[in-house]
Amino acid sequence: MRSKVTVVGAGNVGATTAQRIHQLGYADVVMVDVVEDLPQGKSLDMLESAPIMGTDAKITGSNGYEETAGSDVVVITAGIARRPGMSRDDLLLTNMRITSSVTEQVVKFSPDCIIIPVTNPLDAMVQNVFEASGFPRNRVFGMAGVLDTARFRTFIAEELNVSVEDVQAFVLGGHGDDMVPLTRFTNVGGIPISELMAEEKIDQLVRRTRQGGGEIVELLKEGSAYYAPSAAITQMVEAVLLDKKRILPACTYLEGEFGIKGLCVGVPVKLGAGGMEKVMEVKLTPEEQAALRSSADTVKELVEVMNKAKAEGKPAQG
Ligand code: NAI
Ligand code: 2OP
Repeated sequence: MRSKVTVVGAGNVGATTAQRIHQLGYADVVMVDVVEDLPQGKSLDMLESAPIMGTDAKITGSNGYEETAGSDVVVITAGIARRPGMSRDDLLLTNMRITSSVTEQVVKFSPDCIIIPVTNPLDAMVQNVFEASGFPRNRVFGMAGVLDTARFRTFIAEELNVSVEDVQAFVLGGHGDDMVPLTRFTNVGGIPISELMAEEKIDQLVRRTRQGGGEIVELLKEGSAYYAPSAAITQMVEAVLLDKKRILPACTYLEGEFGIKGLCVGVPVKLGAGGMEKVMEVKLTPEEQAALRSSADTVKELVEVMNKAKAEGKPAQG
């Protein structure tokens, strides 16, 4: 029997993710969106590509959650995306309201699933979904680090004219402009990046990685990135469905690891059938620890804004 994956939000990221997972062929996919007929139309279009792509997996669309019942993995992309001039944090309270109501439905129909939030601001939304779901931490972890790392790897490979496959990188912290690319652990075919590139060039690529999402927003004018994000989500879904035990960066609820407690932040983890099976803790230098702390503090500020809005009973405008 094939696995079942639900993708909530049939916009740019959700639809591209659903298409990628459907094409892999080992999971049936359900797409959910509030816009009438949108998920139904997109999923029918994807289903009609199946004879050409050679997949027998099913894909359906819905405006409700009954069809999602018994999902193994649920990806949440529902929400509003950035427009030029907006930061990820500008999306906070609207997307908090959306992800809370989505989570309630997801949990009701798929109480044993693994949830991968993607909606921005990512780390705050993971915290919101984690708390709203009541799931253990291994079953809620967010996508951002795989994308941020992929951007960093792309820029390094371009600069050195080497295969992207041979570049390994490591990005810690929140999915924001203060994310922490750890150049000490970045290598090309095992050779530390510091042996291959001048420090100023590495710094320039780190800055470009931090602003990678904004660079795409400025170019697209309407909306934000979705090809690389959907590839990143698909890699994480695959790690779970195929129990691959991949070591990938993901936003997870920390219980003291890396000196952080009670907050969802991006760190390297092991992903397999059990979801987030282990936080891969490494010893950081004092500078790296300070950078991670500062990134985590930014996430904490957003979580406090959400908590205040929840306490006041005024979760969001719009
Ligand atoms: P989009 O605007 O193309 O799609 C969002 C979809 O969510 C729309 O179709 C909308 O109708 C739907 N939606 C809104 N409220 C809903 C609800 N209550 N239930 C179900 N569906 C609902 O936006 P896009 O580009 O797909 O981005 C989605 C989110 O993902 C944004 O918040 C964006 O910032 C975030 N994102 C996060 C990334 C990451 O690395 N974590 C990367 C790229 C995007
Ligand atoms: C990105 O990094 C918008 O978070 C999204 O592309």
